[in-house]
Amino acid sequence: PYVDAENRLDFDGMLATLEQIPQGDVVLLHACCHNPSGFDLSKEQWQRVLEVVRERGLLPLVDFAYQGFGDGLEEDAYGVRLMAENLDEVLITSSCSKNFGLYRERTGCLIAIAKDQQQMENVRSQFAIVARENYSNPPAHGSAIVVEILDSADLAANWREELTEMRDRINGLRRDFVDALKPYGLDQQFAHIAEQRGMFSYTGLTPEQVDRLRDEYAIYMVRSGRANVAGLASENLPYVAKAIAAVVK
Ligand SMILES: Cc1ncc(COP(=O)(O)O)c(C=O)c1O
Repeated sequence: PYVDAENRLDFDGMLATLEQIPQGDVVLLHACCHNPSGFDLSKEQWQRVLEVVRERGLLPLVDFAYQGFGDGLEEDAYGVRLMAENLDEVLITSSCSKNFGLYRERTGCLIAIAKDQQQMENVRSQFAIVARENYSNPPAHGSAIVVEILDSADLAANWREELTEMRDRINGLRRDFVDALKPYGLDQQFAHIAEQRGMFSYTGLTPEQVDRLRDEYAIYMVRSGRANVAGLASENLPYVAKAIAAVVK
């Protein structure tokens, strides 16, 4: 469980389930900008997840696909760092698809933290086998681009600026969207959209409402109510708000 029937983060449900996972199992966590819901954990909630993971001896696999899209490059790493600093074994998958715009180059990395050198050597040889059996040689050009950028102070500064622009745009759209719903008295009902982070949002719209938005207003989202916030534009916010008001009333 992660989101409840009222479209809120179900942290208690999540924690209660984590507490029942058998020792040694792998547990997949999203570092930030949760896909599909947009609901992220607070610092306090990360702390409680850490405690359960540690107590039960679980192995966290942290999926870090949107670093820089939530609250900042550093801020978004909070949960990842907490796990890395406090546990003997952690797996982290980091993607450059979004934050470097390299979706088609398959660029990212798997970071493994092991208890000691012997464990690390074991892990490394297992990874080598898996890589060999899966893809043998990874695509090289995407990572060459990332290295070029991160190795240059100027390019890296440029990249951080552009990433900030993208993040500010999405977070600005989230706030403006809720504002655009104010005239219809719907800003409270959709206030969570401004609180969520990343590209995606569980809007809370029902499948029937989503169908009407598509059929009557040519506005598209997944029938679960999941919308791509980055697909909005300031020019069309009033139109989208008006359409939502028409289908929810
Ligand atoms: C949470 C999450 N992890 C991983 C991915 C995929 O990352 P990559 O393109 O590096 O395979 C996505 C989306 O594409 C995602 O939303």
